[in-house]
Amino acid sequence: NTIENGSFEWSAPSNIALVKYWGKLGKQLPANPSISLTLNNCKTITKLGFEKKANDGKFSFDLLFEGQPKESFRPKIEKFFERVEEYLPFLKDYHFTIDTQNTFPHSSGIASSASGMAALAINLMNLEKELNPEMTEDYFNQKASFLARLGSGSACRSVKGKVVIWGEHVETDNSSNLFGVEYQDVNLAFANFQDTILLVDKGEKQVSSTVGHDLMHGHPFAEQRFAQAHQNLSKMKAALATGDLDAFIKITESEALTLHAMMMTSMPYFILMKPNTLEIINKIWEYRTKTALPVCFTLDAGANVHVLYPENVRSEVLEFIKNELVGYCQNSQYICDEIGTGAVKI
Ligand code: PMV
Repeated sequence: NTIENGSFEWSAPSNIALVKYWGKLGKQLPANPSISLTLNNCKTITKLGFEKKANDGKFSFDLLFEGQPKESFRPKIEKFFERVEEYLPFLKDYHFTIDTQNTFPHSSGIASSASGMAALAINLMNLEKELNPEMTEDYFNQKASFLARLGSGSACRSVKGKVVIWGEHVETDNSSNLFGVEYQDVNLAFANFQDTILLVDKGEKQVSSTVGHDLMHGHPFAEQRFAQAHQNLSKMKAALATGDLDAFIKITESEALTLHAMMMTSMPYFILMKPNTLEIINKIWEYRTKTALPVCFTLDAGANVHVLYPENVRSEVLEFIKNELVGYCQNSQYICDEIGTGAVKI
C-alpha cells in the first residue's frame, strides 16, 4: 500500500499513577512496575498531517501548538522520532504536520508528556495501519503503547484501558517492560472514580522527570524501593479487585509520599512539595478521620495534589474541596477529572 497524503486526529488522556514509576534503565525501561488510573478530561488532541516526500534520510515535520508554530517543542519530538524510527520504517517517507492542543490550561503544572506522547504515537500507528490494513487491534494498541513509552515512559499507560499496568511483575500475566497492559479486574467501587486536581503550584517543574529518574541510580534506598513497588502492585491489584477502599487509600498515599521521600533522600536532594501541599494533605486526613469517607491524595513529581474518591461521595467531597482546600490553590484553580478509557479517534 502507498498513501500520498492525509491526516488523522486522536485524543489521548493523561494518567495518574497509584504505584509510581520512578527510576529507569536502558531504553526507557522501568526499574519497577507501576499502575495508573487513566484520566478522562485532561487530554491532548493531536492532528497528524502527512504528505509523501522523497526519503532523503531526514525527518521532516512542522509543529503547531494550538494552531501556532511552536519551535520549543521540536527537540522533544525530534528525540522521539529518532527513538521510534527503527520501528516505523515509513517515517522518513513523509513530511508531517503535528498540530496539538491540551484540554487543560497551559503551564498548569500538569505534565502533558504522557497524553502528548501517547496522542502522537497513536497517530503514527494509524498511518502504519493504513499502510498495513490487516493489522489487529491488539497489535495496534500494544505497539502504540510501545512507541508512546519511547517518548515518555508513563505515556505507555495512556493508550487503552481504565487501569493500566506497566512493567514486568510476576503476579501479572502478560505484564511487560515494553508496553502497558490493561488491568480489568476492577471492582464497581471504582466505577467513575473521581480525581480532583488541586493546582498548588503552576510553575515549571523544579526537577524534570528525566533528571528525577536518574537520581535513582546509586540511590541508597533504590533496591528496597523497587522491591516495595512490586509488593505494592500486588496489594493494589487485590484492593482494586475486591473494592477494598481502605487498602487502596493506604497504598496510594504511601506511594505518593515514598516518591517524594526518594527525591528528598537522593543526591542532589529536592523538596517538590510546597507548604500548601502539606496543608492540603493534613486537611484531607482530618476530613477522613471526621467523616470516615474514603478520600485520599496522591502526588506527581511536583506540588499539585490529586484528590481521589468514589463517585458516590462526590457532592460532599466537592463541597469540602471548595470550602477547605481551594484556598490553598494558586488562583483558586482546580480541575475536576475522573477515570476514563483511553485514546479516542476523532
Ligand atoms: O513518564 P515520565 O518519565 O515523565 O515519569 C513519570 C513519573 C511519575 O509521574 C512521577 C510517576 C508515574 O508513574 O507516572
